[in-house]
Amino acid sequence: MRRAFLFAVVAFAVAACAGTPNGSRSRARAARIKEDPRVDELLKKMTLEEKVGQTVLFTSDWTVTGPSMRSGYLEDIKAGRCGALLNAYTADFTREVQRVAVEETRLGIPILFGYDVIHGFRTIFPINLGMSCSWDIPAIEESARIAAEEAAAAGLQWTYSPMCDISVEPRWGRISEGSGEDPYLGSLISAAMTRGYQGDDLSKDNTILACVKHFAAYGAPQAGRDYNTVDMSERWFREFYLPPYKAAIDAGALSVMASFNELDGVPAHASNHLMNEILKDEWGFEGFVVSDYTGINEMIMHGYAADESHAAELSMNAGLDMDMMSAAYMNHLTDLVKSGKVSEKTLDHAVRRILNIKAALGLLDDPYKYCDPQREKERTLTEENKAFARQFAAESMVLLKNNGVLPLKKGEKIAVLGPMAATKDDLLGSWRGAGQVEAVPASIEDAIKEVTPVAASASKVVLVLGEPWDWTGEAASRTSINLPVEQTELLKSLKKQGKTVAVVLLNGRPLDLSEESEYADAILEAWYPGTMGGYAVADVLFGDCNPSGKLSVTFPRDLGQVPIYHYAKNTGRPYIHPDAKYESRYLDCPNEPLYAFGHGLSYTTFEYSAPVIPGSTSVIPGTDRESPVLKGDGTLTVKVKVTNTGSVAGTETVQLYIRDLVGSVTRPVKQLKGFERITLQPGECREVSFTIDSEMLSFYRQDMTWGPEPGDFKVFIGGASDNVKEASFRYEI
Ligand code: GLC
Repeated sequence: MRRAFLFAVVAFAVAACAGTPNGSRSRARAARIKEDPRVDELLKKMTLEEKVGQTVLFTSDWTVTGPSMRSGYLEDIKAGRCGALLNAYTADFTREVQRVAVEETRLGIPILFGYDVIHGFRTIFPINLGMSCSWDIPAIEESARIAAEEAAAAGLQWTYSPMCDISVEPRWGRISEGSGEDPYLGSLISAAMTRGYQGDDLSKDNTILACVKHFAAYGAPQAGRDYNTVDMSERWFREFYLPPYKAAIDAGALSVMASFNELDGVPAHASNHLMNEILKDEWGFEGFVVSDYTGINEMIMHGYAADESHAAELSMNAGLDMDMMSAAYMNHLTDLVKSGKVSEKTLDHAVRRILNIKAALGLLDDPYKYCDPQREKERTLTEENKAFARQFAAESMVLLKNNGVLPLKKGEKIAVLGPMAATKDDLLGSWRGAGQVEAVPASIEDAIKEVTPVAASASKVVLVLGEPWDWTGEAASRTSINLPVEQTELLKSLKKQGKTVAVVLLNGRPLDLSEESEYADAILEAWYPGTMGGYAVADVLFGDCNPSGKLSVTFPRDLGQVPIYHYAKNTGRPYIHPDAKYESRYLDCPNEPLYAFGHGLSYTTFEYSAPVIPGSTSVIPGTDRESPVLKGDGTLTVKVKVTNTGSVAGTETVQLYIRDLVGSVTRPVKQLKGFERITLQPGECREVSFTIDSEMLSFYRQDMTWGPEPGDFKVFIGGASDNVKEASFRYEI
């Protein structure tokens, strides 16, 4: 029964589940996997070689998502050397491969089919960075649920998603695949996507196994260059990079993918700290860990493994259960166990986890349950899925600037220009799953033409600019985050001709729009909006959908400001006095970003009252000032009134930030700790309240224990991280 899905506007003030070492409490725990008795029976029967076979994942020859390909996967499966296959789908194809595994091998253990279904399978949704700008957690979950239903109908049981990598690096092409810079928002999104994919029962024929990636901190490569070194303090790692992975695990995710990068000098593919100590021991993770594409072999290039056998030994002993595409496990694990370098107990640990997941997916009951061509036809690219995709794409778009040119009037003559106006292919973005350009009904130009007369000479121009879709995604880092110069020149020339220009952007990373923002009369950030993106852009441009997106990542004025993000520290010399020399500033650029985290305009306007913290106050020691007090495990409520002061209905994401003024380690000037999406009619006023508790104030104190510290706090509420009103309170143990 299809869950009725409304674009409900719901309250979100849930404290994120942070990684919490050193005995401090965690609000949730990893999913417990049911031990299936048939797994023990199988393990008893399996030869050493058959056990190794279950730890091997190869790609089909359908598509390439990594640096190497190998032929002969069917022979490997038939010989029991391979237990899982990626990059292959359709009910018919998977049925044939499954038949070989089940009917032509000694024990008939079914194959697990995996694929990168990260923003849709056939019906493609906005890229993940775009989705995250919707801040619509239920819609994000619904997009994952639809993706799972379409993928499962095509013979797949496993997706390599959610990508949980926090990033403040716009040069990094894979920032497009994640949920931006904020660990709180990222945690809610990774948990929602996990729920969407896995549902409440992995054995159903419309749910698939989620895969938390890339574990861990892959989004912080030095210089923004993909696969580059990652190095940060354990403290910063646990507070700002780890939470989204943990939120997905706490939401029940049962597979994890190791990341290509090293962290603190150890490649993640052999990091006992990451895979055994944090993931399996501290968090209680009972699923399995898979390598990224040839990631085990790459430890030789890292200079961490002497050879392929050494790499296999290091990875298996560090808790990495399955080898994607290195063949290191296939080539060496049997000998490593025979030599004692890897215990058979360790191998059994890996195989048991993998087989328990195959059992949980229902594959031991019916290996062909995902191979129904009729269901595949019925469940993919449905009108309902496309209607959802269109609305969701519109919600993901962010109106960065508007001097009143938008919304356009239906019937007025418009010119639609720019190198991205006619494209359908770029609308799908990278990692487009089984999305096909043929299924894209309209480019942006097509969609606008259906609404209004189009003439190149018109005085009002929609100028569609951006990056080609493959300028972001994997192995797509750039040293510049500017638009191609000819695009900026086109904008300037149109302005010199006296045109009114609304720029629409198709891109996968934060861009330096400092020049374009001076010329454009409006800028709509559309990301790569997916199959229905052309129509969704037109819906927003003509006001059929009032934009409500908010940036989940900061847009700098200049690459020279990077890294720049909203949870920065104050420093000992914050830039306060415009003419001061000895303060933390640049000689050639303001400190502030061009568009801040949480920024996004609407066709209406919203007014915020000052936040109020009702209830008793107490005198701040040593002063004559009074302040509301949060005590121990109690809670405080902070309220604000939001009014739609414009002439059309609109949805606003009311954001709550908190600052701890003094800590045993320095604290950010603000951290997102809650938000609520509300839809208001013109003139409507609504009181929004947030509950503050000590968990929201907690951090890794100087001794690395997790918890709050007493003292003064500020709370900020507004429609963007740089557009807030504040109140104060004290926290007392
Ligand atoms: C790629 C990516 C990873 C993807 C995997 C399988 O190299 O790093 O995100 O899931 O290989 O395609």
